[in-house]
Amino acid sequence: MSDGLATRAIHAGQGADPATGATITPIYQTSTYTQQGLESHLGYEYSRTGNPTRAALEACLASLEGGAHGLAFASGCAATAAVLSLLRPGDHVVAGDDLYGGTYRLFETVWRPLGVEFTYVDQRAAAAFGRAARPTTRLFWLETPSNPLLRLADIAAVAGEARAVGARLAVDNTFATPAFQQPLALGADLVVHSTTKYLGGHSDVVGGAVITGDADVHERLKAYQNSAGGVPGPFDAWLVLRGLKTLAVRMERHARNGAAVAAFLSRHPRARDVVHPSLASYPQRELAERQMSGFGGMVTFRLPGGRAAAGRFVRALRLFSFAESLGGVESLVCHPATMTHAAIPDAERRRRGIAPGTLRLSVGLEDAADLLADLEGALAAAAAPVAPAAAP
Ligand SMILES: Cc1ncc(COP(=O)(O)O)c(C=O)c1O
Repeated sequence: MSDGLATRAIHAGQGADPATGATITPIYQTSTYTQQGLESHLGYEYSRTGNPTRAALEACLASLEGGAHGLAFASGCAATAAVLSLLRPGDHVVAGDDLYGGTYRLFETVWRPLGVEFTYVDQRAAAAFGRAARPTTRLFWLETPSNPLLRLADIAAVAGEARAVGARLAVDNTFATPAFQQPLALGADLVVHSTTKYLGGHSDVVGGAVITGDADVHERLKAYQNSAGGVPGPFDAWLVLRGLKTLAVRMERHARNGAAVAAFLSRHPRARDVVHPSLASYPQRELAERQMSGFGGMVTFRLPGGRAAAGRFVRALRLFSFAESLGGVESLVCHPATMTHAAIPDAERRRRGIAPGTLRLSVGLEDAADLLADLEGALAAAAAPVAPAAAP
């Protein structure tokens, strides 16, 4: 019987150091390796190609996602670019239409000018992927839950659509993490991560990863990784590895606090359109329960007062930091329209359901009661613009 996820997060790829017996994987802060002689070395030649700290991280990530092969990159965007490197001019991608803004920007401003074509569909309908496919379609791309509206795609159903047209399915599993969702087991070909988020877990490192069970795809991605060179340094790889050790316990607490915040907001008269899969009002509840083993700490909602109310809200918060990113131990709030999703044209953003009053919370690991008190105060401040001074 294979070990459980919490065990693998602590041990996979992280045996005692063969050189010294160090229990914790050392930070091999070296660019190069002394070789024994011509064509004779201990498995490492140069750290863009391979580094033992990065190799430990890659093995651990592969184990957590249930894929044979993992590759670590310098950022989530670099990992996404690696997957896109499998495409050629004229190839076509069908992607879900609620995506991290930087992924959309990479598709539209880097890959489209190189001749790759993209069609966006509502990912809540798996059949939409098949309908949008063309003879040139090579890749389906999903984020589930999506950023920021927490919409789900049925991974197994979309994987079926992909197989039917001979395309690969890549799933960005950043929000759910392997602790709560296993895309490869559901039929995806590739899993992508921004390890900057829950996997690193402490908002102190930027990184990315691609995991696959397909040896040929892995070889192509590894060649790309070595050629393009967007690798994490040894210390960054080590920070993610250290973060992974507590992934299972952190995710449980993120999910518990996320559900508490969502329940609070959904009862609050000043918050609208609260989205979290734990809520009875969540429209894809059955799929969430079938596909995920936990619902995470991301909560999205809307303030009826639009951009001005959002501005007052974020200024009034005491514990939630007003910041990009997510998935760290501390709670964050982000205004997608002006931050993470500013790269999407205004009309397109509104069409996708991101309003000027939409706010995205990354609920951290603080005491839930303190977070609710912080939100209560900021909701009051959001509703009450400071009155102009009375005329003398
Ligand atoms: C879902 C998702 N995927 C990918 C990325 C890109 O990752 P990075 O910022 O590490 O390049 C992000 C960043 O916010 C994200 O939220």
